[in-house]
Amino acid sequence: MATYYPPFRKQSPYLPFGEQRTGRFYGKDILSVKQFNRADLEYIFGVAHEMREMVERIGTFDLLKGKILANLFYEPSTRTSSSFTAAMERLGGSVIPINEVRYSSVAKGESLPDTVRTLECYADVIVLRHPEIGASALAAQYARKPIINAGDGVGEHPTQALLDLFTIVSELNQVDGLTVTMLGDLKYGRTVHSLARLLSLYDVKLNYVSPEILRMPAEIIQELNEKNIVQKEFTTLDEVLPQTDVLYVTRVQKERFENMDEYESVKDAYVITPEVMREAKDRMIVMHPLPRVGEISMEFDNDPRAAYFRQMEYGLYVRMALLAMVLGRA
Ligand code: NCD
Repeated sequence: MATYYPPFRKQSPYLPFGEQRTGRFYGKDILSVKQFNRADLEYIFGVAHEMREMVERIGTFDLLKGKILANLFYEPSTRTSSSFTAAMERLGGSVIPINEVRYSSVAKGESLPDTVRTLECYADVIVLRHPEIGASALAAQYARKPIINAGDGVGEHPTQALLDLFTIVSELNQVDGLTVTMLGDLKYGRTVHSLARLLSLYDVKLNYVSPEILRMPAEIIQELNEKNIVQKEFTTLDEVLPQTDVLYVTRVQKERFENMDEYESVKDAYVITPEVMREAKDRMIVMHPLPRVGEISMEFDNDPRAAYFRQMEYGLYVRMALLAMVLGRA
C-alpha cells in the first residue's frame, strides 16, 4: 500500500531528530504591523538588543547554521535586501538572492504563488518585496514556510516600521509621550503607513506634514482615530518642528506617480538643512528610511540629531531577531 505523506503545515511538526523549536513567532508570517501588540514589540526589541551585543562581541555566530533564506525582490532595494542577507549570514545561515526577477522564471510569466511554492522547496523562509498591495498576504496563503513582507507596493513595510521603532526606543529611551512628525510623501510612502499604525500602540501625538496631494490616506487616519491617537495635518513644517521629538522624513515616491508633472510640482516641497533645524529641539532625532534624493541636505549629516545612518544599523539587529524568531531559535 502506498504511504500517505500529509501536507506540510506552517508550523511543521516534522523536525529533525532532537531539534526543539519554540517561541510565539515560530513558523509565522510577518505581513503587517497590525499583527503585533506591545508585548510582542518588547520581546522583538529584547532579542534585537541581544543580537546587537552578539554582533559587537563576536560578529558572526551559528544560531541559524544550515538554514536558507530566499530573498525575492520584484522592486529595487539596497538596504532591505542587503540587511536581510547580512542578518542571515551573521547568524550562520545562507541566502538565495533573486533581485533581478527579469532573469528568473517570473520573466517567463510564472505567477507569484508558483514562484513562492518553488522557492520554499529550497529555503526555510522567504523575504518578499512586490509592487502590489497584498502580494505578501497572497504568497503566504500558498506557502507553508514563513513569508516576511519587505514592502508590498504602497501598502506596508512592517520590518522597516519595527526597525524604525527600535531606533526611537534605542535613541530616546521611550515612546510614550513623544511627538512624531512625518514629513513628505505620506500618500505613497509605505514606511509611514506601517510606522503610524505601529505607533498607535503607544501614547503619541502624530503630525502629518505633506503637500495637499500627498496626504496620509484617510483610512489610516480613521483607523488611528478609532484608537484615540491625536493626529494633525499640515502643509508646512515651521509650526510643528519646535515641539517635534522624532522628525521622520520620506522621499517623494516618483515611481508611484502616473503624472510626472504632478511629481515635479511636489518633489522639492521640503528640504531639511542645518538652518531649518535651528528651530528644532536639541534632544530629538531626524529619521529617514532612505534612499534620500534631496529632502535632507548632506550638510546636516554630521549633526548628532541625524539618526538615519544609525537607523540602518538598528535594522540589521531587528532583522536578525525576526529571522531567529520565525525559524524558532529565539
Ligand atoms: C523604503 C521603501 O522601499 O519603501 N526604503 C527602504 O526599504 N528603506 C523607502 C523608499 O523607497 O523611499
